[in-house]
Amino acid sequence: MRRNLLIFCLLLLSIVTIIVLNINSVQSQSDMIQRGKYLVDTVGACGHCHTPRAGAEYNMNRYLAGHPVNTPHPRYNFSMIQQGIFILTSTQMTAFSGPFGTSFASNLTPDKETGLGEWTEEMFIQAMRTGLHQGTAGNRKIFPPMPTKHYAQMNDEDLKAIWAYLRTIKPIRNEVSPPLNSRGRPY
Ligand code: HEC
Repeated sequence: MRRNLLIFCLLLLSIVTIIVLNINSVQSQSDMIQRGKYLVDTVGACGHCHTPRAGAEYNMNRYLAGHPVNTPHPRYNFSMIQQGIFILTSTQMTAFSGPFGTSFASNLTPDKETGLGEWTEEMFIQAMRTGLHQGTAGNRKIFPPMPTKHYAQMNDEDLKAIWAYLRTIKPIRNEVSPPLNSRGRPY
């Protein structure tokens, strides 16, 4: 009888422990997502380039969806340097053209075909740290004005939090063009 009671108590204790541990991990996952949102929307200012503008306001229906496909983009001309012009941007402030060529802010939503849907956390962290496209050695550099030099200095915890948050935002289909070289051709 006593033995049964002991087994029952031990079982109960393990169940309670499992429940508490699970609640804690759900809690820490949601804390991490909240932190990611905070970093993206405040100091990271990712929407500054990745969310297209409609006039002075952000178009929140395209939150972090990158340069809208099939919309015009500026073309830099080297003679502009004499006029003190170094970078031009599209009206939505999502495409940029300068002596480096032309870049289009990427789609950061989890859309599978056109966003970061197929990316892994490792790819994201490596891209932010190395400044190489998809974080892969041998790939081209990520183009200006993406501030990779600054983001590269973020700690792992913050980059993981940003990644966790980006997985939760609304997926938006928008196939952003790859960058162009200074002659307007694909790299
Ligand atoms: C000043 C503008 C600007 C800001 C701010 C910015 N980005 Fe970017 N980002 C870009 C541009 C432009 C590209 C496209 C570069 C290219 O195609 O090489 C890009 C590309 C990316 C890519 C794709 C890299 C790759 O491997 O091709 C990721 C991921 C990314 N940004 C994440 C972020 C995150 C997260 C933030 C905020 C913490 C952020 N960006 C803030 C301009 C910006």
